[in-house]
Amino acid sequence: MTKEYVTSERRLLHGGDYNPEQWKDYPEVLEQDIELMKKSGVNTVSVGMFSWTSMEPEEEVYDFEWLDQVFDRMNSIGGKVILATPSGARPAWMAKKYPEVLRVDSLRRKQLYGARHNHCYTSPYYRSKTQEINRKLAERYQNHPALLLWHISNEYGGECHCNLCQEAFRGWLKARYDNSLEKINQAWWGPFWSHTITDWNQIESPSPIGENLVHGMNLDWRRFVTDQTIDFYKNEIVPLREITPDIPITTNFMSDNPEFIPFRGLDYSKFAKEVDIISWDAYPAWHNDYEETYELASKVAFINDSFKSMKQKPWLLMESTPSLVNWHQYNKPKRPNMHYLSSMQMLAHGSDSNLYFQWRKSRGASEKFHGAVVDHDGSAENRVFKEVSQVGATMEKLSDKVVGTKRKAEVGLLYDWESDWALEDAQGFGLQTKDYPQTLQKHYQAFWEKDIPVDVISKENHFNEYKLLVVPMLYLMSEKTITRLKDFVAAGGTLVSGYMTGLVNESDLAYLGGWKKDLQDIFGIEPIETDTFYPSDSNKISYKEKMYTVKDYATIITNKNADVIGNYLEDFYSETPAVTYNKYHKGQAYYIGARLEEAFNQVFYQDLIDELNLSPILKVDHEVGVSVQGRKVDEDTDIVFIMNFTEKKQTVKIEHEVLDVLTNEMINGKFALEPYEVKVIEK
Ligand code: GLA
Ligand code: ZN
Repeated sequence: MTKEYVTSERRLLHGGDYNPEQWKDYPEVLEQDIELMKKSGVNTVSVGMFSWTSMEPEEEVYDFEWLDQVFDRMNSIGGKVILATPSGARPAWMAKKYPEVLRVDSLRRKQLYGARHNHCYTSPYYRSKTQEINRKLAERYQNHPALLLWHISNEYGGECHCNLCQEAFRGWLKARYDNSLEKINQAWWGPFWSHTITDWNQIESPSPIGENLVHGMNLDWRRFVTDQTIDFYKNEIVPLREITPDIPITTNFMSDNPEFIPFRGLDYSKFAKEVDIISWDAYPAWHNDYEETYELASKVAFINDSFKSMKQKPWLLMESTPSLVNWHQYNKPKRPNMHYLSSMQMLAHGSDSNLYFQWRKSRGASEKFHGAVVDHDGSAENRVFKEVSQVGATMEKLSDKVVGTKRKAEVGLLYDWESDWALEDAQGFGLQTKDYPQTLQKHYQAFWEKDIPVDVISKENHFNEYKLLVVPMLYLMSEKTITRLKDFVAAGGTLVSGYMTGLVNESDLAYLGGWKKDLQDIFGIEPIETDTFYPSDSNKISYKEKMYTVKDYATIITNKNADVIGNYLEDFYSETPAVTYNKYHKGQAYYIGARLEEAFNQVFYQDLIDELNLSPILKVDHEVGVSVQGRKVDEDTDIVFIMNFTEKKQTVKIEHEVLDVLTNEMINGKFALEPYEVKVIEK
């Protein structure tokens, strides 16, 4: 496996968001920053994301001198700059003079000037203005040796319902439906509640005022929001591609908090294709009171692996906090060693960086209590600064080996944005218990606990790279996806799916004539009815002589030619199939009809791991809560991170002696890990 460097740097990046524009009146602070950066092993800063007013204080009046200084200072310490385009927040003069840049919300209220991440992404003025300022940045810094990477805007998200956006939505629909209202009415099931459209100007974006229950339209709106955001982004990068063709481009993606599921606002599987490097901002609520630390660690790993799988190359952690955030329900500092551990987890899952929000705590406004490397005390002596420096020192040691290396997985777990949107919108099942991404987290966790690497993929990834594809609850399935899954199984792959899969097509229209024939062939069954449970309801299944509890959903299945390997034990469908196995051409397919307790996932997937001979990067015996993940340096060498995500001391066992990369000493294969301790070893 060859290395792939995502930037021109040959080392891991350590640093993060830097807002020197807030400190222009404090030259001593800016001086001190450079000294403190050297001390903490910071080699990269991201600047500019919220600096438009400092770059263009008045219309067409520019000031880049402060930014020149940042570039020069970073260069003087051998550091690099990730330069952000400033479209995430705009100057007050602009909003006043060109109010079209401000968003209209779904209640059709024009927003007043304030906050950030709230521009209209259709506004022709904003599009030309962002291009203009981006062009100035590119022209000015194109030859600066410190320029490393473009960071486009900041955390794109949200939607605008202004008239310009309405018009753009209608244009998008015309393109999708060949200018045919008839096709739209078919896709949206028009006659239902008399919602047939007879003129383009009757189409308006969904709004709670009208309570839009036309699911096909809601789905198209969300697709449009993704496409329009990408279109805005593409407009931003035109001058950058032209002037700095060799500087790679990224934009920082997110997850949805506090559940730590994929960000639902944009279909990142589409957006990913447009950027050179995937980067994202991770803010898990460590030490919360509703889950075990290791459960959260598994959720973080899930999101990491989804970003990793988008390009199958190293990605960047663009933001994380060295201590706490200011927007969780309760903003708890990371306990000692958690920052170090969580930073190592990023490297283990394929990140070539640990970058923070923020370098220095701002003095005023909403983020003055958000964690930072440098606190208001300006000290290098506090706990947070010291732990950050320790991360910096370790990253320097690991740099040569780790940077550019990849991860490999034989299991693909499929998450689909469109299916998630449609299922959330669906009125049926349990309105509060659909839990599609949360269910995927549980399936992922079963592998994570056994250290089996998993790629979290989209419906367009190459399926045949995997031995095993896990596709729970893929409610929306186009015929194309069905065919791709069929080909995967026919060619020898193993497929796992189950309840709620394959109910509607890409317009959210139910399939007619029963479950799709291809699906029936692959699985050898037909799901007939879904029983939805009240929270107090339950049922049980038997599987390999053991019983497992069902919650939320149980699908009643007609068997065609599958082997029944699990049966329901209660209710009117007692003794009928709950879990089935079917051989299909060279491959095989399992159908899990019910939402089952985690113990079932453990046993079921262990059997598959054994059968398919799936292996971790290194076989380590340990208890639940220790995670072993890593990266392939070359055919014979792996860098392995053994991480203790529990509050207990853990003893782990490896069959032979191993090299501790950080101390460069061989250590006995049986050793202890303190709470939150991590060992980095070479194999
Ligand atoms: C986001 C933003 C940052 C900052 C952090 C705070 O990730 O991109 O500018 O506001 O949140 O956690
Ligand atoms: Zn708009």
